[in-house]
Amino acid sequence: MARLERIFLTLTGIALFVGVLAIVASVAVGGVHLPGPTGRVDPNAVRQTPPFSAPGVFPEAPGRYRAVLLARAWAFQPAEVRVPAGSIVTFVITSQDVIHGFMVEGTDVNAMVIPGQVTTVTAHFPRPGTYRFLCHEYCGVGHHAMFGQVVVEG
Ligand code: CUA
Repeated sequence: MARLERIFLTLTGIALFVGVLAIVASVAVGGVHLPGPTGRVDPNAVRQTPPFSAPGVFPEAPGRYRAVLLARAWAFQPAEVRVPAGSIVTFVITSQDVIHGFMVEGTDVNAMVIPGQVTTVTAHFPRPGTYRFLCHEYCGVGHHAMFGQVVVEG
């Protein structure tokens, strides 16, 4: 084996090892995990099934809120989530028709909203402001109009 080849293979091996180590460390120490469905709901009966039968924003504990959102072509219900600054908001979302997306600007929330599945994502809003959320999955002619906002009050 040529010398350069050996060096190249060694470096590749080290890079692979470091990469795998980084993944293992992020899972074990950083708590990183793949997003997955956190529940199931019959998409045909979603409007009669709690909590989606009454979407809205609900206080859970001091500084903590649960925002139950229903996604449909082409709106989020409710389209506005209002919380005080410093809140931690858990969004619980499902779709009543087709696949939508849910992304909140200024946060790392970026999830799929799939009929039949319940998507749960959490975001912290330390500063007052208006944070738009939108559907980022093409869902038909009204896709571009499918958005809402989190209003964080100071
Ligand atoms: Cu809903 Cu795009």
